[in-house]
Amino acid sequence: METTLIILKPDAVQRGLMGKIITRFEEKGLAIVGMKMMTISEELAGTHYADHAGKPFYNGLVGFMTSSPVCVLAVRGVGAIAIARSMMGATFGSKADAGTIRGDFGVSNSFNLIHGSDSPEAAAKEIGLFFGEGDVQGLDRAIESWVYDMSGGDPE
Ligand code: RTP
Ligand code: MG
Repeated sequence: METTLIILKPDAVQRGLMGKIITRFEEKGLAIVGMKMMTISEELAGTHYADHAGKPFYNGLVGFMTSSPVCVLAVRGVGAIAIARSMMGATFGSKADAGTIRGDFGVSNSFNLIHGSDSPEAAAKEIGLFFGEGDVQGLDRAIESWVYDMSGGDPE
């Protein structure tokens, strides 16, 4: 099982798209195990996007991410990191395929609605940045054995 960090960015919250986006993850079969709304500080945005420091879009990115509240989610499932990235679509809304979150809900390149961790290392780091001890739940879903084939012992 993997847990990935998802951020519904300020444009998703302002445009009233939180429910539609969260529904996609729930309907896919991924489990929402952490969720909160917050306003990201400049310091936190800088730490979260440290790899992009110095790039031409960096200041705009930090300004955007701190401009209005976001919704932060911890989303769990087998292969959840890659599954969430493919559901998000390409970085730029103008290029993202139809059927993806960015492809279906946005046209902008910088206001691209959603962040998702891009590796297990990034996911662990980002969950630690955005969630405190006890904020991510150990969710024992009653439906688990219908979401996954558990006949071999492990979720398939
Ligand atoms: P994210 O980290 O937010 O999930 O997005 P990503 O992996 O798809 O894209 P990444 O390369 O990590 O870029 C982070 C965010 O910076 C903005 N961006 N603008 N104008 C540009 O060339 C440009 N490139 C990136 C986007 O908001 C992107 O999500
Ligand atoms: Mg990224």
